[in-house]
Amino acid sequence: MDVFVVQGGHPLSGTVSVSGSKNASLPMMAATLLSKGKSTLNNVPDLVDVRTLSALLRCLGCEVTREPSSALSIQVIDEEHSKAEYDLVRRMRASVCVLGPLLARRGSARVSLPGGCNIGHRPIDIHLRGFEALGATVTIEKGDIVVRSSRLVGNEIDLNGPNGSTVLGTCNLMSAAVLAEGNTVLHSAAREPEIIALGDYLNAMGAQVSGHGTSTIQIEGVDELHGAEANVIPDRIEAATLIIAAAITRSSIQIKNIETHHLNHVIQKLNGIGVVISKQDHSTIIVDATNRLLPTNLHALPYPETPTDVQAQLTALLSTIPGESVVRDSVFPDRFMHCAELNRMNASIRQQGDSAHISGVQQLHGAHVMASDLRASAALVLAALVANGESVIHRIYHLDRGYEALETKLNSLGAQIIRCSEERLLNRKNHELQIRKSA
Ligand code: EPU
Repeated sequence: MDVFVVQGGHPLSGTVSVSGSKNASLPMMAATLLSKGKSTLNNVPDLVDVRTLSALLRCLGCEVTREPSSALSIQVIDEEHSKAEYDLVRRMRASVCVLGPLLARRGSARVSLPGGCNIGHRPIDIHLRGFEALGATVTIEKGDIVVRSSRLVGNEIDLNGPNGSTVLGTCNLMSAAVLAEGNTVLHSAAREPEIIALGDYLNAMGAQVSGHGTSTIQIEGVDELHGAEANVIPDRIEAATLIIAAAITRSSIQIKNIETHHLNHVIQKLNGIGVVISKQDHSTIIVDATNRLLPTNLHALPYPETPTDVQAQLTALLSTIPGESVVRDSVFPDRFMHCAELNRMNASIRQQGDSAHISGVQQLHGAHVMASDLRASAALVLAALVANGESVIHRIYHLDRGYEALETKLNSLGAQIIRCSEERLLNRKNHELQIRKSA
């Protein structure tokens, strides 16, 4: 297993470019199961979750090729199988997004029920209720979800849940309804930019989807879909992470390939605490965090509000701003495992219910810390950039799931991050110990 060894205290400067969106790529890749022709997705990031879904699509009869240009071409060759194996599903919850396309195109889908998750309870009951409303039968057999239907029929479906709508649930139901007989209306649909990207892609394949990006999506079923080409949108969570990297190091950097309107709320919040973010052209910004920053309160909610996927990174930032801040997460109310690790770096964060109460400190200290999930890993990397001395971040495989070459990008801005194996780190420790003994 790899770790990051980070020497903190180096300000950032220069230019960095945002990769394609992980959370847009995954449902779009799964949606290619709906057609027989060849599809090309441009700007797909090369990261572990994309490779896991590529492997799953291959098991489901697709030919998946990564082109040198960061495009992924996908073509369905064999439609016989409809089972997503546990070994792949357990590595990535987003594997559930093959359920809708398989059900609609192949008449059945069998996907291992995703297990526990480090960011809290993550049921898929709303997805399953939606499939039933389209006429499918849903059973749990030996730990697998099995959905079956010889012909899906359009219906009105409400996707509201206890914590708002569901992003992948909306993707699954859109992808199932495009081949259903008649019309479907999805109420309380998720409005995230990734939903708009999927709706546009389905339409490029010949579907009749409208209203995507609002809470009511209308879908007119069609008989078949063809392959299509689409550009994946820039990753708004990576973009926010890079903005926060500049903010936490009190630096000024340029960020390219960013869709600022996908991050309006985060940008407004950061402006409010003293980070100056100015647009240079439609996809380039300058982030200047050299002024004194102020504490604030934040609330992670579904789009267009502050995303839960930047809650951990913002918590890391606020832990370095003297004064009291409160960060609340209403999408995943238990997503606070990073707080205990940040406290090991001298942060002062108290979790209470769905909120983190932060007393900002003057200085974080380097320490050994453990990443618990993808965004928690990013928060720890950000904290390590400003901590004094050396930090070692363990279990960075979480980070590799969802960020394309984050350490390379940060190093190009002046950060000092070394990736090495746990084993090499241990050897280095032993070597240092021997030198000290013999001195
Ligand atoms: N929920 C239910 N029932 C369901 C589905 C969801 O109660 O059937 C609840 C969840 O427990 C949660 C809330 O609804 O409280 C929202 O969950 P959602 O279904 O929207 O999450 P998701 O679709 O499984 C996607 C992203 C997550 C991101 C969430 C919220 C992908 C691959 N994943 O997950 O991204 O946090 O939406 O925006 O798109 C990440 O990238 O690090 C990540 C976790």
